Amino acid sequence: MAITRFFYLLCLSLVAFSVSSDGSSAHDELIKYGFPIGLLPADVKSYTLNQTTGLFSVSLSDSCRVTLPPDNYLATYSHKITGKIVENRIAELNGISVRAFFKWWGITGIRSNGKDLVFEVGMVTAKYPSKNFDKSPPCEGRRSSS
Ligand SMILES: *[C@@H]1O[C@H](CO)[C@@H](O)[C@H](O)[C@H]1NC(C)=O
Repeated sequence: MAITRFFYLLCLSLVAFSVSSDGSSAHDELIKYGFPIGLLPADVKSYTLNQTTGLFSVSLSDSCRVTLPPDNYLATYSHKITGKIVENRIAELNGISVRAFFKWWGITGIRSNGKDLVFEVGMVTAKYPSKNFDKSPPCEGRRSSS
């Protein structure tokens, strides 16, 4: 089904990101909260996380666009991605969008059960294995990997 495939591709694009901020990174935070590191981009410039509220903000070096084969969906990552993270759940997510059906769709949340990730676009959800996010597909212009 098209929407399912769409989300699968979205997942692949999210994998593009592996955090490499200095020292104790956003990587570590993701793992601590039950998420694979592949959800965050390699070019993270800085991030903040309030451990009490779970509110976070991730700043990338630049916005990032990915074209997702084979159907050429576009996904974009804003300069700044914000949201609220608690164990196994990211909510109020802002800054990641995918284009499909002639519209941009913002990813509003992501849930994890350790084995799978569930992506939310409003009321619509799609589930994919977390292991799809162990690695990083690239921002536009860079070599692709699975
Ligand atoms: C985290 O958020 C709480 C509630 O808004 C606030 O009281 C606290 O100062 C914040 N902590 C940091 C480190 O910003």
